[in-house]
Amino acid sequence: MTPQDLMKQEVGKAAAARVQSNSIVGLGTGSTTAFAIEFIGKRLAAGEITNVKGIPTSFQATVLAKQHGIPLTTLDEADRIDIAIDGADEVDPHKNLIKGGGAAHTQEKVVDALANQFIVVVDNTKLVDKLGSTFLVPVEVIPMAVTPVMRAIEKLGGKPQLRMGVKKAGPVVTDQGNLVVDVKFDSIDNPAELEKTLNNIPGVLENGLFVGVADLILVGEVQGDKVII
Ligand code: 5RP
Repeated sequence: MTPQDLMKQEVGKAAAARVQSNSIVGLGTGSTTAFAIEFIGKRLAAGEITNVKGIPTSFQATVLAKQHGIPLTTLDEADRIDIAIDGADEVDPHKNLIKGGGAAHTQEKVVDALANQFIVVVDNTKLVDKLGSTFLVPVEVIPMAVTPVMRAIEKLGGKPQLRMGVKKAGPVVTDQGNLVVDVKFDSIDNPAELEKTLNNIPGVLENGLFVGVADLILVGEVQGDKVII
């Protein structure tokens, strides 16, 4: 396992340790959250916690939760989400995030924003002084609106590119059947305003700026031969 994978594993485990019996858990998407899902499953199997139900944020999270024996529920059935655990692509000092590296940010925002406590799990490579420094802002767009949305984003000063899949054989398609446009902004001075402005463009479903949603950031860091949280 690489040092980064080790950080992801330990931080996922630390988040899973915070899940209590009789709770409804938002299950995020990505390689770090995958470890949290695995450890929640292990704690359930060991009888350490009981009566836990998950609400997945993607097809990937659904498959993983089933693999690890976590019973699932839906937003129609559940009256609350006690805790959500999810990864991020960038985290700034104000706990604002860029998400959507896995094209799952639309469902993630619904679930993470509803949770009483939203815990973000990241390795220390995700910490930035300013959002947009290392990662582009993902924007989910309905297919027929891709060209006008890209033009509107250019007028805002962004440089949009359609996200392509592995081997560039075709575009990435989200769980909702939409496309993702990744946008480079030279400087994101007001993430809250940009989040709203992007969502106001007709044809945009949701963007990956998560402002004021996260409650706690768990960061994995390698120190010597140990990972500390
Ligand atoms: C998916 C996401 C992920 O949480 C984000 O990309 C982080 O993933 P990873 O833990 O694999 O680095 O937002 O849409």
